[in-house]
Amino acid sequence: MIYHQVLVVGGGLAGLRAAIETGDKLDVAVISRVNPVRSHSVAAQGGINGALANAENGRDDTPERHAFDTVKGSDYLADQDAVEIMTHDAPIRIIEMEHWGCPFSRTPEGKIAQRPFGGAGYPRTCYAADKTGHALLHTMYEQAIRRGVQVYEEWQVQRLVLENGKTRGVIAMNLITGQLEAFQAEAVLLATGGAGRVFARSTNSLIVTGAGQAMAYKAGIPLKDMEFIQFHPTALYGPSILISEAARGEGGYLKNNRGERFMEKYAPKAMELSPRDIVARSIQTEINEGRGFGDPGAGGYVHLDLTHLGKEKIMERLPAIRDIAMSFAGVDPIEKPIPIQPGMHYTMGGIDCNADGETVAEGFYAAGEVACVSVHGANRLGGNSLLETIVFGQRSGAAMLRYVMGLDKTRQGTIALEAALREEKERVEELLQRDGAENPGRLHEELRNTMFYKIGVFRQEEEMREGLEKVRELKDRVKKIHIAHKGRRYNLDLARNLELEGMVEMAEVIALGAITRKESRGSHYRLDHRERDDANWLKHTLAYRTDDGPRLDYKPVTITRYQPEARRY
Ligand code: FUM
Repeated sequence: MIYHQVLVVGGGLAGLRAAIETGDKLDVAVISRVNPVRSHSVAAQGGINGALANAENGRDDTPERHAFDTVKGSDYLADQDAVEIMTHDAPIRIIEMEHWGCPFSRTPEGKIAQRPFGGAGYPRTCYAADKTGHALLHTMYEQAIRRGVQVYEEWQVQRLVLENGKTRGVIAMNLITGQLEAFQAEAVLLATGGAGRVFARSTNSLIVTGAGQAMAYKAGIPLKDMEFIQFHPTALYGPSILISEAARGEGGYLKNNRGERFMEKYAPKAMELSPRDIVARSIQTEINEGRGFGDPGAGGYVHLDLTHLGKEKIMERLPAIRDIAMSFAGVDPIEKPIPIQPGMHYTMGGIDCNADGETVAEGFYAAGEVACVSVHGANRLGGNSLLETIVFGQRSGAAMLRYVMGLDKTRQGTIALEAALREEKERVEELLQRDGAENPGRLHEELRNTMFYKIGVFRQEEEMREGLEKVRELKDRVKKIHIAHKGRRYNLDLARNLELEGMVEMAEVIALGAITRKESRGSHYRLDHRERDDANWLKHTLAYRTDDGPRLDYKPVTITRYQPEARRY
């Protein structure tokens, strides 16, 4: 049995930042299924928010203004105390990254450059051209290695082991050998990202499967606000690759098939820089009402026009966007508009935890997209997710350090871990030997299409019920999947499909939460309940796992200084 005082599951920004916080004082290891610099954080493009007030037209910005924009953007579902912590810590953490060597883009006077982003009153988004996640993640990885953090790369964690409400460790599979191992630890942090690949048309990488949420849920930890799924307005038509909000931040226009900047109708002041929920719905409305391009039945698209920005600005600020548009759509944005449509982008909900990453189980923590603190509420502002990773990664790391230093008994739970290891070995064996008739690839396709088309940008009762029924059918069928490749070494067929059951369960939680919430709020927009209903629904959803499916409960939202009001942009 392998032992570390602290185990961090996930090698992206939140996980590495937590490991750095504990790395000098404790024996900490990171378990990641890919090399850490290939974690999904690397794909973040547009930037990270912090009230640094560096932009010429943003000198009055403050953490309080950032907090207000975030709360309003969240459609008042975010916990305001947590938001205030995040916006207060933002400049500290961003400058720390600068001091660690992150190659941010610069203002003429040499300060970190900031660009406008949706729903923000000031240019507040710090960036490294349009590869901000890449710049941050490489810097963070260097710092983790420097502190002697041990990394188990290409290991997939299968199970969280709790005993009497206390954390004992995890069971993980070495992807290279196929061997299962028990890892014992005093504290475990999950930082495994969102559940993007439960949906079709996702901007997320293939490893973003909701595995962390599913693992916690199975261990009895409640999930919070899972019905709130962000649809990014501008995913590339076809492959759904992210086309950063930075493109609009730098002045890009959205245009319909009449050449109109249609955002004028929906959000006359903020236009293209309205929050994502509003822009995504506006684009989808244009497409649905025949003002898009292509066949609306087959998806349809509108244009993101950057041609007026000029070659120099595009090459300097948006080089990756240009590459993506040229490579995957055959369009050079210097000359022609980019075809885009809304795509699933972010999971606002996640493991219920507080601003120190603490959950209901002692020694179990969560940070980053897998977690729900909640700072994004019903709709996250662009640039706040990278921020969340470094703020709450640091805070969770500090909390784990305090917790482990205060323990008087260590290395507990050996018997529970051994039993869990045996069960996981049996589960793997059963799956490999099973003579099932279900093709896992096809089943996954049915799942993600059901979720995107039945519980998507616009939702309504009947369609969502059809979606839930289908998900429940898949829940039975997933028990009959057939793994074609039986080998142990690097069997990704096995590794991916071990997660399918959890993905179906996440879909069920999302669907049931969405059906039950009879209002529209942020990203959850119901055609049959178009208004926000604070009297009945200003509350967080909690989902608990039972043998009969999720049991829902609710808890209040923390309001400090911003009373809910109508959102106008
Ligand atoms: O559009 C983007 O660059 C994405 C940013 C984010 O999701 O925060």
